[in-house]
Amino acid sequence: MPENTGPTGSPCGSSVLVTGATGNVGREVVDRLRARGARVRCLVRGQGGRRPGVECVVGDLTDPGAVREALVDIDAVFLIWPLLDVAPAHALIAELTVAAPRVVYLSSTAVDDEAVRQSDPIAHVHADMEALLHDAGLRPVVLRSDTLASNARGWVAQLRVGDVVSGPEAARTAVVDERDVADAAVAVLLAQHDQLDHGPHVLTGPDVLSRADQVARLGAALRRDLRFHALSADLARSRMLADGRPEPLVEALIAASVRRPESTRTTDHVERLTGRPAGTFATWALDHAAEFS
Ligand SMILES: NC(=O)c1ccc[n+]([C@@H]2O[C@H](COP(=O)([O-])OP(=O)(O)OC[C@H]3O[C@@H](n4cnc5c(N)ncnc54)[C@H](OP(=O)(O)O)[C@@H]3O)[C@@H](O)[C@H]2O)c1
Repeated sequence: MPENTGPTGSPCGSSVLVTGATGNVGREVVDRLRARGARVRCLVRGQGGRRPGVECVVGDLTDPGAVREALVDIDAVFLIWPLLDVAPAHALIAELTVAAPRVVYLSSTAVDDEAVRQSDPIAHVHADMEALLHDAGLRPVVLRSDTLASNARGWVAQLRVGDVVSGPEAARTAVVDERDVADAAVAVLLAQHDQLDHGPHVLTGPDVLSRADQVARLGAALRRDLRFHALSADLARSRMLADGRPEPLVEALIAASVRRPESTRTTDHVERLTGRPAGTFATWALDHAAEFS
């Protein structure tokens, strides 16, 4: 692949496969890669996931044939694993091992390297995925993201009809802007080989926030008096099931809300990778206020 130069002037000869390209982080990664002049291919589950001007392979992460097709002539992969079961990842990892691209895996700050057992099923999946990628000899670049600010999009429906966000309580964490995660991902996807740090990079925002803190900051951005109402685990479970969410996902979310410990660590890893400090949730709220009106 000939080396070209992106619009920012940085050398960019990479072909990058983006998984989860329709998601909160993935679409930001696609935009940034294109702006840097990288060749981008997306793996999307349906024709609706296609984006104008972006090459797409339609298929599931659990379909080895689609993954094989998507990996042809790819230098680096932005990999997410949104499933609650790692068993189907073995076939994906076999394809990655054959194609041997740089793998940048989006993991979670909930992974505890010292724990014999992870706090909840979501942390467990990420810990297992990191281990599987390492054990396959892929030397993944691991990005451990804190709670994404974009999770607040899940409150849009409630805030269209009232000023209260109800949901399961969650321990405080250093909520991170998904745009910072995307910037960090692009930095390592396109880094020169000799400048690549495999991490784990712990991507956090600057402030440790409760759900109530987030709702209050969102209220300030929207100029509304918003508040958070914590639901008991049983009530939160029954509401999420009534909303049509799959039972295994509901159980995983409830387990995370009940068992995941507070995460008060803030790092400068966003700044180390991107050259600028991580943004605040207040800024995220201002930038996304229109989505809540
Ligand atoms: N949310 C957090 O606070 C947090 C924190 C740390 C790490 N993470 C990790 O970050 C990942 C990305 O977060 P996000 O907010 O961008 O997720 P998101 O908005 O929910 O997007 C998920 C993406 O995965 C795709 N997808 C789901 N199942 C798939 C499958 N079986 N095969 C192929 N693609 C599939 C979806 O495609 P469709 O459009 O077809 O549904 C979508 O593009 C999460 O999955 C999680 O592993 C999240």
